[in-house]
Amino acid sequence: MDPTEMDITKVREATRALRGRRVIMADPDELIDTVAAHLIEAAKQRLGSDDHFHLALSGGSTPLNLYRRLVIDPRFRAMPWQQTHLWQVDERCVDHDNELSNFRMLREYLVDHVPIPGSHIHPMPATTPGGEAQYELALRDLLPDGPDDQRLDYILLGMGSDGHTASLFPRSDPLCERDCWIATVDGPTVAPPRPRMTMTFPLINAAREVAILVIGEKKRAAIQHICLADRDVQRMPITGVQPSHDDAELIWYLDHAASPGSGD
Ligand code: 6PG
Repeated sequence: MDPTEMDITKVREATRALRGRRVIMADPDELIDTVAAHLIEAAKQRLGSDDHFHLALSGGSTPLNLYRRLVIDPRFRAMPWQQTHLWQVDERCVDHDNELSNFRMLREYLVDHVPIPGSHIHPMPATTPGGEAQYELALRDLLPDGPDDQRLDYILLGMGSDGHTASLFPRSDPLCERDCWIATVDGPTVAPPRPRMTMTFPLINAAREVAILVIGEKKRAAIQHICLADRDVQRMPITGVQPSHDDAELIWYLDHAASPGSGD
């Protein structure tokens, strides 16, 4: 068995405890290409039965190469941006032209370079008093309103080395939110800057497809914790991502550097 093959067997074994599907690749670029291809596939599939594709994207540094790839790589020009509504998973409570703003990053890396209609771009009102309710109202207004349809179609999540996702940080209040879709979060575990605004588990776990993209050595310890069944959501918020609908899919996209069992 060649070393890479041996690696992948060990990695698949070591990550077996992760809920959902696992896409594990040695090369982060190949992994990013796979996420891009799967995203386009999900969009096309959804547009087979609805007029719009409701997509929520995270901030942070990991997805930057994905956003770049969606803009410049001809293989991914098929993304149906004209029918896509773009939502934010979370945002720092700063103005949208602040260098720390996730929306500023989305605008610079993606929004300004793809043919998405202006009315389909939904920046999070993270500095607006009552912005949480305002964003939830916008979602409820634009998501299809069938009994089973108030759901996002696709959410791209990252994971911090502390196991947070979105802006759901360890021991932060929104981890216990069971009704509201959007919350403001602050507190000692919230990475700078703080406070932040974030989607909560009721909205995240209702999605049709949730992709968790984790790349790099810095994240391996957190993935290892989860694989060793550290399922305490207060300590490892990412373990609270558990899509609730039978037709939903959860897919982990990991490179070898982030995966326990690789190169051990
Ligand atoms: C943010 C992100 C955040 C991110 C993780 C991982 O606002 O920072 O939404 O939740 O996904 O912190 O960040 P990196 O991709 O930079 O490691």
